[in-house]
Amino acid sequence: MTAQNPAPSIDPAAPLLLFDSGVGGLSVLRKVRKLLPQAPVIYVADNAGLPYGAKSEAQIAARVSGLLGRLTERLHPRLVCIACNTASTIALASVREVLEVPIVGTVPAIKPAAAITQTGVIGLLGTEATIRQSYVDRLEAEFAADKRLLRHGAPELVAAAEAKLRGDSVDPEVYLRAAAALRAQPGGENVDTVVLACTHFPLIEAELAQAFGPGVAFIDGSDGIAHRIAFLTEGQSWERRAPDLALFTRGGDEVNRLKPMLEAHGLGRVAVF
Ligand code: DGL
Repeated sequence: MTAQNPAPSIDPAAPLLLFDSGVGGLSVLRKVRKLLPQAPVIYVADNAGLPYGAKSEAQIAARVSGLLGRLTERLHPRLVCIACNTASTIALASVREVLEVPIVGTVPAIKPAAAITQTGVIGLLGTEATIRQSYVDRLEAEFAADKRLLRHGAPELVAAAEAKLRGDSVDPEVYLRAAAALRAQPGGENVDTVVLACTHFPLIEAELAQAFGPGVAFIDGSDGIAHRIAFLTEGQSWERRAPDLALFTRGGDEVNRLKPMLEAHGLGRVAVF
């Protein structure tokens, strides 16, 4: 940056925008809060499009780029975090091409999982859309070529996390089925590390840990994302002029029932976009 071309100053009230299809991005927000408690946040849940995992690549790419375009125009965030593995593995590159604001994506934590596995067998739980992405193939080839990576698409875990955060009860069979689906694959009895490659899944990590039994470590990308956001905003000033906002693409009873949990994550206002 030259003296003739100084960096544009950032409005201290400009928020961080975290985006997911539902409540999954709250697992990322928790980590962001720890590092940047003073940062104003707008959390966006495209619940009218939930679940992304059951959609096609074209549907997800169009939806995510369109929504993020409208959201950034209207809300002027200083940074956008796509707190969703499905949206990131499919649409991150195209969203980066069209938006000028810095974008932080969510990448399945295969690299750190490969560094800690003792048995060399890693499980990966994600949405059906995420586990088939070439993005995941590339991460596997780059960081886990000498390991065995077993993948399982678990849409019912997304629904379980949503239900848990609304305060609804969840049949524990859901967690047992996910564990069994990885264990049943060749080598599955040796899985000692599970990548939670969907931001909804850290919200049900305790339940998954119980279903898998002892000796299994869980890993997700949320710490790395929070550190990346802190790095990209280093030196910027922050001012929260109103309670942080949760925006949903569809209102209704399910959103109303999420309010206590949103409040617990510092999202004191709720609105429909
Ligand atoms: N939370 C999202 C992810 O990280 C996906 C949930 C869904 O909409 O299917 O992949």
